[in-house]
Amino acid sequence: MTAYDDLRDLARDVALTAGALVRQMRADGMDVAATKSSPTDVVTAADQASERLLRERLLDARPQDGFLGEEGDAVEGSSGVTWVVDPIDGTVNYLYGDPQYAVSVAARVDGRSVAGAVFQPPTGALFTATLGGGAWLGERRLAVRPVVPAAQALVHTGFGYEAHVRARQAAAVAELLPRVRDIRRPGSCALDLCALAAGWCDAYVEEGPHLWDHAAAGLVATEAGARVEVLDPGTGLDLVMATPEGSFSAFRDLCEACGFVGDGAGNTSG
Ligand code: IPD
Repeated sequence: MTAYDDLRDLARDVALTAGALVRQMRADGMDVAATKSSPTDVVTAADQASERLLRERLLDARPQDGFLGEEGDAVEGSSGVTWVVDPIDGTVNYLYGDPQYAVSVAARVDGRSVAGAVFQPPTGALFTATLGGGAWLGERRLAVRPVVPAAQALVHTGFGYEAHVRARQAAAVAELLPRVRDIRRPGSCALDLCALAAGWCDAYVEEGPHLWDHAAAGLVATEAGARVEVLDPGTGLDLVMATPEGSFSAFRDLCEACGFVGDGAGNTSG
């Protein structure tokens, strides 16, 4: 039990409800509603409907709280709790019918996540965490893998939608690939961090995710024994890096050598 269990339960309940909605909307047929940073950075009607539902349910339950979502205007609250949600993380996968997408809901206090839920509707995987209360996949407590040398690390990454960012990411990935076991690009930052928590990979690095992408899953990973940092590579975008605690410095040095990192200071995401 932690002081944040009620927030975790609310995060879980609304993530499950929004997940059922987006799954049904996908089954009913789905198309792009708008584009954002580039023609391939899309928003579907399901992103918008899911965010509306999350906002209504959370603020109905806790009217004094703040709210920040990927698709709409922020609400400033007075309770000290702010909800940070991604209505569909992995929207391009969702559009294509790939099951690698999730609804992500985090409760934050004083700039850090204290409770969160990440729900993957097509598989039913539900990741939850509370600050100090551990990370869970359903009823199973999660723990990161043991530390391995970088040469044996399975790394997850992701790419932004803008061409100039992709060019930089491609160059860094080309340097990293020969020096690690392999690199995966599943397409959902939230699920990448949950995969690290579950021991399904050894590291995650990506320039460009936003707070709503990693607010809940960063806590899941941290509570499973990862170090999750949001670094400033000096490009105007955040660089999110996460590994089991014991491998962080070596992985960060490797990423820096490969061109991922400047010398910015880090702060924790979870
Ligand atoms: C995106 C996904 C993707 C990552 C991008 C994110 P969205 O979120 O997390 O894996 O590479 O940086 O923007 O747009 O699907 O919510």
